[in-house]
Amino acid sequence: TIEQSLRPQTLKQYIGQTQVKENLEIFIKAAKLRKETLDHVLLYGPPGLGKTTLAVIIANEMGVNIRTTSGPAIERPGDLAAILTSLEPGDVLFIDEIHRLPRTIEEVLYPAMEDFCLDIVIGKGPSARSVRLDLPPFTLVGATTRAGSLSAPLRDRFGVLCRLEYYKEDQLKNIVLRTADLFETEMDEPSAAEIARRARGTPRIANRLLRRVRDFAQVKGNGTIDLSLARQALELLQVDRLGLDHIDHKLLKGIIEKFRGGPVGLDTIAASIGEEAETIEDVYEPYLLQIGFLQRTPRGRVVTGAVYHHFGMEVPME
Ligand code: ADE
Repeated sequence: TIEQSLRPQTLKQYIGQTQVKENLEIFIKAAKLRKETLDHVLLYGPPGLGKTTLAVIIANEMGVNIRTTSGPAIERPGDLAAILTSLEPGDVLFIDEIHRLPRTIEEVLYPAMEDFCLDIVIGKGPSARSVRLDLPPFTLVGATTRAGSLSAPLRDRFGVLCRLEYYKEDQLKNIVLRTADLFETEMDEPSAAEIARRARGTPRIANRLLRRVRDFAQVKGNGTIDLSLARQALELLQVDRLGLDHIDHKLLKGIIEKFRGGPVGLDTIAASIGEEAETIEDVYEPYLLQIGFLQRTPRGRVVTGAVYHHFGMEVPME
């Protein structure tokens, strides 16, 4: 489908994350030269930056199949065993949200990653016995928004660690132009740049904004996207000049209005605005920290003077 083909299929098509790309290219080439399985890869960083896309590209470049699952989906050791024993030699196993893997599963995963074998217990009580099962060699690609939540033994078993970073505006602009091209939607560079500016460094957000702007162009215009149309559409979507949406606003204004700008603990602010603490921490905070709108202190979150300026409010004296 068009949705699937939007994702780049090769490292060459993948825009941005230069460092990660250069490294992966070398490790993939080396593994292929030696006719070996690629070492296990951990991809970490904020959501929407292309971790799943990279996992698919790694499998494509290695010329192997990819099996996709996620940490919370694997509940019992048998779930993992079923997946591992069905792999073909060299396959990629992609585990998204790997920090949410139950600890009991992690322990099954260690020998699988290290020695490509599984120790499974058959039977119960006095007649229970452990058998060792050989597995085909495979590459585990793990993705997480929080590398810090992985247990040290699991983290240590990844040979390749890749940290994804927020994209620069010109990279996002090129991603938007590429997607518009695949949509066969006509759009000029200034409108692509406008979407890029408001995408919070995140391709997933850029492509989502592009879809909505394209809807607007089709219904309110003649299908072509220019700067004035893009701006009108973005106005309607309630993303502001910096790409902050109404949840960012609720979070920042909540800290200002209910907690005098902070410091306030994550759980307290989460409860007061009715959002999940984990969503704030994984999805909203990282970008606000990056642009210097929020600071983390030992006593909690604090908004900076830049936030008051952004909202046209006076910076309180203290
Ligand atoms: N679409 C989404 N992310 C992309 C990327 N990093 N490169 C190219 N196209 C993309």
